[in-house]
Amino acid sequence: MKLLIFALFLSSLVISVFSQEQPVDLGAVTVPYKAAKVPPNNGTWKFCSDTSTKYVSYSVRIVPDSTPITPGFGIATPGKVQSTLGVGKGISAQLESPSGFSFIDSLSCHEKIVTVCDQDTGNIPIGTAAKYCLSVTNPFSNPQTINVAFSGSDTVFEKGGFTSPNKSGGNNKPFSSASIIKIYDLNIQNNQLKLRDDD
Ligand SMILES: *[C@@H]1O[C@H](CO)[C@@H](O)[C@H](O)[C@H]1NC(C)=O
Ligand SMILES: *[C@@H]1O[C@H](CO)[C@@H](O)[C@H](O)[C@H]1NC(C)=O
Repeated sequence: MKLLIFALFLSSLVISVFSQEQPVDLGAVTVPYKAAKVPPNNGTWKFCSDTSTKYVSYSVRIVPDSTPITPGFGIATPGKVQSTLGVGKGISAQLESPSGFSFIDSLSCHEKIVTVCDQDTGNIPIGTAAKYCLSVTNPFSNPQTINVAFSGSDTVFEKGGFTSPNKSGGNNKPFSSASIIKIYDLNIQNNQLKLRDDD
């Protein structure tokens, strides 16, 4: 009986921790965010530009699991191998070529596990036009919910957006000062890279 009461006490603690989760400030985007679930264990969620482009702009934020997902938004692929990282919060994001064999490293949050990823092509266009795809990976063992604003033609950010630096990892600050990037220092493997403006 004592054990049962203790168990009830513990579960009420867990519930109160979850219900105290703060609402996420989604910051300054000009198109509405849509929500998607990223499957666990290196599962991915992908969304592609519908036209060939040299300009991509996107914002990804981890949001509470209770956020209703947007039906039909993007394609989720389950992970294959159980994560050794356990339960956690954070994703990586890559802007990939349509084949998925290469990615634009200066428009990707691929070096660290982050809770926010804001990238904007700005005035350094991508070298080769293609139907680029945003691919978000979840390295943890729990599913995670993300909000995504994506455009293959214009900035998704207010005030004309910005230019992600032409270096690996691109922009590493949140566009909106209201959101904080939490960084988890893990090594993520690199594929071959594509450059911006390398015609
Ligand atoms: C997930 O991907 C990362 C980076 O490629 C790799 O280091 C890790 O071992 C993978 N984890 C699983 C569970 O496959
Ligand atoms: C971006 O960087 C790559 C090498 O990292 C370079 O080849 C390319 O010319 C740069 N583009 C601009 C516009 O600076």
